[in-house]
Amino acid sequence: ITLILAGYDTTASAMSWGFYWIHQNPLVREKLLQELDTLGDSPDPMSIYQLPYLTAVCNETLRIYPVTMFSFPRVVQESVELLGHPLEPGTVLLPSIYLTHHREDLYPQPKQFKPERFIERQFSPYEFLPFGGGVRRCIGQALAQFEIKLVFATVLSRYDLALVDQRPEKPQRRGFNLAPSSGVKMVITGRRARQEFFS
Ligand code: HEM
Repeated sequence: ITLILAGYDTTASAMSWGFYWIHQNPLVREKLLQELDTLGDSPDPMSIYQLPYLTAVCNETLRIYPVTMFSFPRVVQESVELLGHPLEPGTVLLPSIYLTHHREDLYPQPKQFKPERFIERQFSPYEFLPFGGGVRRCIGQALAQFEIKLVFATVLSRYDLALVDQRPEKPQRRGFNLAPSSGVKMVITGRRARQEFFS
């Protein structure tokens, strides 16, 4: 039940966003394909999981439109001060993942899709939190990240795809999730063979 209620729509929306951003940005797609092509014909899943640029693309996808905009509410148990704000027991806090991910001081030009920011620096769990944080963070995080990377690697290395609609995709709330409003329709334009790159 958890897989269906919490795990299916979230992961599917994240993958739709990922396919959208990769095909909106030809240079990102090119760089990703070069990295995937270094893997050989039947790569083992862990080598796919560890690819740095694929990881950066997945992180940037979950940063720019975090599928879940908020973490679940937290209730203050004892008086505490947070960034100068006194908080009394019983106060309900709703951390905003979206607003954190769009802070200009952390992510310059936050509306732009730039996977390189995840190569250039490492973000703390207080700065990048698509799966929430603390002891109640998403239990499906590792599964979702693994699944998303394997799907991207398998589909992108086998097929050339194109977006049907070139207009910018708008985010739309679907239940708790932030999903692409058009559903990101794509067509297969050809089959891909692995390219050899020589440096
Ligand atoms: C891209 C995919 C996913 C995203 C972005 C996501 C995001 C989140 C977020 C933000 C929370 C709230 C955490 C917090 O309050 O700190 C959460 C909780 C949760 N997620 Fe996910 N999730 C994803 C996939 C999954 C999958 C695949 C599963 C199950 C296999 C799952 C199961 C759960 C459960 C059970 C909770 C509640 C945890 C608790 O309250 O202790 N999620 N998720």
